[in-house]
Amino acid sequence: MSNVVIVGSQWGDEGKGKIVDLLASRTDMVVRFQGGNNAGHTLVVNGEQTICHLIPSGILHGDKMCMIGNGVVVDPEVLLGEMKHLVEKGLVINPDNLCLSEKAHLIMPYHRAVDLARETAKGEDKIGTTGRGIGPCYEDKAGRRGIRAIDLLEPDVLDEKIRENLKEKNFLLTNFFNADPLEYQPLFDKCLEMAEDLKSYIKNISFEIDNGVKAGKKILFEGAQGTHLDIDHGTYPFVTSSNPVSGGACAGTGVGPDKLHHILGIMKAYTTRVGSGPFPTDLEDDSGRYIQEKGAEFGATTGRRRRCGWLDLVMMRDSIRYNGLTSISMTKLDVLTGLKTVKVCVAYECEGERIQSMPASLNKLAKCIPVYEELPGWQEDITSARSLDNLPLNARDYIKRIEQLTGVSLSIVSVGPMRDQTIEIIDPF
Ligand code: GDP
Ligand code: IMO
Ligand code: MG
Repeated sequence: MSNVVIVGSQWGDEGKGKIVDLLASRTDMVVRFQGGNNAGHTLVVNGEQTICHLIPSGILHGDKMCMIGNGVVVDPEVLLGEMKHLVEKGLVINPDNLCLSEKAHLIMPYHRAVDLARETAKGEDKIGTTGRGIGPCYEDKAGRRGIRAIDLLEPDVLDEKIRENLKEKNFLLTNFFNADPLEYQPLFDKCLEMAEDLKSYIKNISFEIDNGVKAGKKILFEGAQGTHLDIDHGTYPFVTSSNPVSGGACAGTGVGPDKLHHILGIMKAYTTRVGSGPFPTDLEDDSGRYIQEKGAEFGATTGRRRRCGWLDLVMMRDSIRYNGLTSISMTKLDVLTGLKTVKVCVAYECEGERIQSMPASLNKLAKCIPVYEELPGWQEDITSARSLDNLPLNARDYIKRIEQLTGVSLSIVSVGPMRDQTIEIIDPF
């Protein structure tokens, strides 16, 4: 097997960054395919933490080609800031280890302004977005008025597109949202300045990937967010505006599905959610607080407290189907250590009916009560375990039961944030 797709199988923050960083040592290329700097992927190497928002999580290895796909929405200011930050950390960043698709859409300051204005206007009903302009940028992409990375290299096109977009956005901001308008000239000048810094990184990445495939290179496709934040399959409208499911890897990079060999779903040993929206196994009790504190469950992008609950296998079964998961990587198993019992949701009960898949109706979902199976917990510290044999029997039984209930094998079990705090069972490559 040579190419692996990594996807989040819950509501994001499953620990994708750690697993991408771990597996990147075995690859030649790491490609992000959707989302933007709403993502926060945490890597811990030699005790030092790095958070990647836009740059693929393989970057710390130095010699991997890290690509930002056409499906990603790119805030050029954030990208340049992240590149600068990594250089300050001692990394070499150049077009030999980083490139950006010429077709990637750019997040402009008016996208951030509209995102924030829209959330403010919604009040109590807000989605709880990251405020990074993600939704409005994808809206413009679908509306066929977006600005793409390639436009940075053609000032005439850029000039016209910014003028056209500002006309509409300023009308919306001032007349509908009661917010301040944005000025044309400083925005255009800033874009030209950033174009100078970015131009050597802008490439046809579909072509680059294909060349890699033909040369027998191994490629890791890095998803952001999670399956249940998917614009089509998630808990709409409490979702992001892209397709984090594995199919997004094809549309978001220009690679054919025949080139994807192993779909690895990252699943936390429990469930978390940041932002608004339904969450059937949400815990507002001592167990929830224990998991939140022990797991340090705060958003890597916005610092918001993440809601915590038991592992939901209804969600997971949907995830397995939407993504075609080949295997699952369970993360943060160590966080469950110390609980007397651990629960997993095996079905929902809704108005007297047993449900095996998340309903599309939010009204119906709100009435779903989780049906739990309770398993004995374990008290032993497991952060030094490097094989399944090192785990206490109850932790092994928890893993085994999840494999039985999902019908998918676990390939990796993560027992701490660091690279080596990992139990590898199957190598997805
Ligand atoms: P991502 O967005 O999916 O990459 O996940 P985040 O980085 O937002 O959140 C995962 C958090 O859990 C980060 O702080 C990681 O360092 C941490 N982490 C990852 N795997 C483990 C693990 O197995 N155990 C513990 N305790 N922390 C982990
Ligand atoms: P990673 O890649 C968790 C959530 C936001 C909000 C919703 C829409 O780190 O797993 P958006 O700004 O995308 O329009 O917000 O999606 N969200 C995430 N939650 N992890 C993420 O990324 C997320 N990216 C967006 O909190 O509920
Ligand atoms: Mg995250």
